[in-house]
Order: sequence, then structure tokens, then C-alpha cells
Amino acid sequence: MENQSQNGAEAPVKVSTLNCIDLSNPDIHQSVSLLKQACLDCGFFYLVNHGISQEFMDEVFAQSKNFFHLPLNEKMKVLRNEKHRGYTPVLDELLDPDNQVQGDYKEGYYIGVEVPEDDPEAEKPFYGPNVWPADGVLPGWRQTMEKFHHEALEVAKAVARVIALALDLEVDFFDKPEMLGKPIATLRLLHYEGQISDPSKGIYGAGAHSDYGLITLLATDDVMGLQICKDRDAKPQIWEYVSPIKGAFIVNLGDMLERWSNCTFKSTLHRVLGNGQERYSIAYFVEPSHDCLVECLPTCYSENNPPKFLPIRCSTYLSQRYKDTHAELSIYNKHQT
Ligand code: OGA
Ligand code: NI
Repeated sequence: MENQSQNGAEAPVKVSTLNCIDLSNPDIHQSVSLLKQACLDCGFFYLVNHGISQEFMDEVFAQSKNFFHLPLNEKMKVLRNEKHRGYTPVLDELLDPDNQVQGDYKEGYYIGVEVPEDDPEAEKPFYGPNVWPADGVLPGWRQTMEKFHHEALEVAKAVARVIALALDLEVDFFDKPEMLGKPIATLRLLHYEGQISDPSKGIYGAGAHSDYGLITLLATDDVMGLQICKDRDAKPQIWEYVSPIKGAFIVNLGDMLERWSNCTFKSTLHRVLGNGQERYSIAYFVEPSHDCLVECLPTCYSENNPPKFLPIRCSTYLSQRYKDTHAELSIYNKHQT
């Protein structure tokens, strides 16, 4: 039961009005105040003038389409590995097992921080070499994705500075080596195939979830589909669409930041409903280093508001969250020849 009025009729889904942060705005106080309001309210906002050109964004989307248009057998050659790199087929991920009858009707491709095989750091979960389609298959693909990974990290760091100020921390709080100096950062290309979602039947493009990490930068094409629910405990839940804005990132806070800020800042439930149109999006998930201890921030507790969570290592937290939502890799063995 959701978005239903008292007489049981289906209430129209409204479109959310989110604050918009302009990274080129010289009035930093204004940006901090807009961002803070958004983070206290729902943890979602638009980001414009972020420094990644429209031309380059168009190229990343075009290359993403090139990959997903490949035949399935070609895509299965770069199936994701245990380090979460590579292709994730339709239904691989199940984000909301209570409400979904099957996995998400989306396919994806994970690209993480490139760490060569012979580097001792490659042993860490989420670090290691990426998986790439063969060069002859998609010329220039790897270069485009690596460039985007690099540029998006700079955008994320700039956002994290505004977040630090909004939490009354030093502006460079998240820039330290154990934080975004050595981040776990994952680019994920996504493709929704045009399946019509039906919540009453448990069919979704992406099931309801909140993101795990610090922040997510999301770029979408112009097809509507993303919805947020500001109060997960409300009965019925009220869902609102987030409409795409050309050239803007939709930024949302993840559960790790909610925990770190002692629930001062919100990580909000969201999902994707397919309307029959094909849809492409690009998510960039940003987390601090493996060893970063996520422990209640100094500005987020007091005598009357003690820390709500125990400290936890970033990589312990993330590994658990990925394990909870992805299929066991062994189910794909039959595809490997
Ligand atoms: C995600 C997500 C939304 C979208 O990948 O975590 O919420 O629009 N994606 O694809
Ligand atoms: Ni998400």
C-alpha cells in the first residue's frame, strides 16, 4: 500500500523539489546553507556547474550504450568478479527482498579504483585491477571510463568540502589520506531495459534501497524513473519522482554518512520504476579508505544526544552491504566455458 488516499484511490505521484547546489557559486555560505537544509531534510540535491563538460558526459553515455548493446555472450565475458568489477546481468541484484519477487530489471557495469595485480593493496576487498571489454570490441572505452572516474572523484571531493562545512567540521576534513585521499570509489553504468514496473506485483527497475557509502553522484538521461521516499516508516509510504535536469548530477547521501553524522544527515530510500522506456544512468559511489574508522563525528553528539552506533571500519561495513544485496557468483558458472 503506497501513495494511496483514504478512500483507497491511487494518489498522483508528485515531483520532488530539491535544492540545487552550484559548485561555481562564490558565495560559499549560501551553498553550505542550501546543502545543509537538503541533507537534514532528505539527503538528495542537484549539483550544477560541477566542472564535467556536457560534451564529455554525452560521450560517457554514448560509450555506456555501446557496451550494453553488445550481445549477452560478449557481456558475460566480463562478468563481475568477487572484487565487484565488471558486468552485472539483469536480476543480479535484489535490493528490496521484502517487496520484490525477482531481482532488479537493470544491468550494470562496475569500475573501481585501478590497482595493479602485483600491488599489495590489490589484496584488499574493492581494490584490484578492473575488468575491461577487449579493445577491439569497444575502442576507446576504457580511456573514457577512466577519465570519468578521475573527474567524478574531483567533483565528489568538492561536494565533501561543502558537506564538511555544513557539519561544522574543517573544510578539508574528508580530504585526509585515510578518507578521500585513498578512497573506495566505484563507477557503475546502468541500463534499464524498458520493462514496465508494477509495485503491486513486486516488479521494479531498482528496488527500494538507500546507498551504502558516503555520497553518490548520479547522472541520468532524460527518462523519468527515480523516486524517493522521505519517511521510510510512514504508512503508507509516500513516493515522489526526482526529475532529471540536463547536465546536473543528482547527489545523495549514503548510510555510512548517516551513521557517521549520528543521523543528523539523512540517507533516503529511493527506487527506480520503469515506464516502458529504455533508461540509462551512471552512478558514482564514493567511500573513504578501507581502514577509515567510521565513528560518530565530533560535532554530531552531545550529552543529550550520545552516539547511536559503534565505530566500524569502512571496508567491514561495505563488504557486508554488498554481500546482502548481490547474487552468489556461483550461479553464473553454467555460462562460463
Ligand atoms: C543506485 C541507484 C538510480 C538510478 O544505483 O544506487 O539508486 O536512477 N540508481 O539508476
Ligand atoms: Ni541508489
